[in-house]
Amino acid sequence: MDDLELERAHFRGVLRAWSDYLQHAISVNSRRRASLASLPHAHQQILAETVQISSPVSGASGFRAKLDEIDDRIRRNADVLEQVAQFTRSFVGLLGEDDDDEQEQAADSPNKSPAEGDQDRVRTVLRQIARDWSSEGYEERRSAYQPLIDAVDARVSEGGSVLVPGAGLGRLAFEFALKGYRAQGNEFSYYMLLPSHFILNNTSRVREHTIYPYIHSASNWVSTEDMLRPVHFPDVLPTMLSPNADFSMVAGEFVEVYAKDCEHNEWDAVATCFFIDTAKNLLRYLEVINRVLRVGGVWANVGPLLWHFEHDSDSIELSLEEVMELLPRFGFEIEERRTLERQQYTGSGGMLAHLYMPEFWVCRKTREIEMAPAV
Ligand SMILES: C[S@@+](CC[C@H](N)C(=O)[O-])C[C@H]1O[C@@H](n2cnc3c(N)ncnc32)[C@H](O)[C@@H]1O
Repeated sequence: MDDLELERAHFRGVLRAWSDYLQHAISVNSRRRASLASLPHAHQQILAETVQISSPVSGASGFRAKLDEIDDRIRRNADVLEQVAQFTRSFVGLLGEDDDDEQEQAADSPNKSPAEGDQDRVRTVLRQIARDWSSEGYEERRSAYQPLIDAVDARVSEGGSVLVPGAGLGRLAFEFALKGYRAQGNEFSYYMLLPSHFILNNTSRVREHTIYPYIHSASNWVSTEDMLRPVHFPDVLPTMLSPNADFSMVAGEFVEVYAKDCEHNEWDAVATCFFIDTAKNLLRYLEVINRVLRVGGVWANVGPLLWHFEHDSDSIELSLEEVMELLPRFGFEIEERRTLERQQYTGSGGMLAHLYMPEFWVCRKTREIEMAPAV
């Protein structure tokens, strides 16, 4: 397969995962229904009487109503995903007419079980929308994005350029654009690119869309209401950007896109958030960050070191101390560094919280370095 074919396959795979979501999520909830039906009748009766929820959708009450309400919310999530898919089908012109036939064939073979990993990514996207584009995500954005924004504000004048690699759904890059910088987000996953394209280019009012990101796990909820709660997005209107704003999202793998000659010395600042640990080889990321910055340019970073490829081959995992020792070797001089407050990443509330203590640093590029040739 050539690069374009690989790209198309990736895109088609994401659209397939998108459309499989409904069937997969409903089947998970059906297992709960089967569990309820397998209980002694007396226990079913107790659950019907004690679980205080009624379902306007089905007219049921008690535990059965809870399952009906989950199904209802799965359908609503699927509707939003479908809108995203419809809007983005022509995205970067990757699909041809034969793709419509293929999608129809896929819909005709409902017995094929969707890959769990792909469905996990779809569920993650729903939570990522809450982090980046809803008022629910305000606290996470304040903890993670604000230090980066402040660091750039203190060092780069308005109109300067900021690159955000691993931009996810684009909110941080958007915030830089809102402040008058030339801002560019870079992202390689269509799971992220599709919804960000949709939010940035197809929303016309605040809280226009509603999703239910927390219905996929029934564990650790204090109340069923918490699990069923809606998340409205976007919390701000992307069209509030001035028509003169210079904001873009670039699809592609960070090293492939930004090691190119045309990107050399192009940027005044690079802001990375929960990104550098996506590297198999962090040294290559450091080379490229150095390369895109002009001398005197600023790199601000926030994140833990949750090495994404730790269990794959060819991955190098480093401790924070080891990473810090690398920075001068790659032409960076540290200006500021601290451990940030404990924070969640796409946290959902409830009785379980994964807390990160991300490290924040700001450094300057002091000199050019050579990129090591590939082996
Ligand atoms: C943990 S998420 C962080 C997203 C966002 N910065 C945030 O803080 O919410 C890491 C993002 O980097 C993207 N990513 C990982 N490796 C990448 C690469 N080599 N090039 C471009 N994007 C990449 C992933 O798809 C994912 O969206």
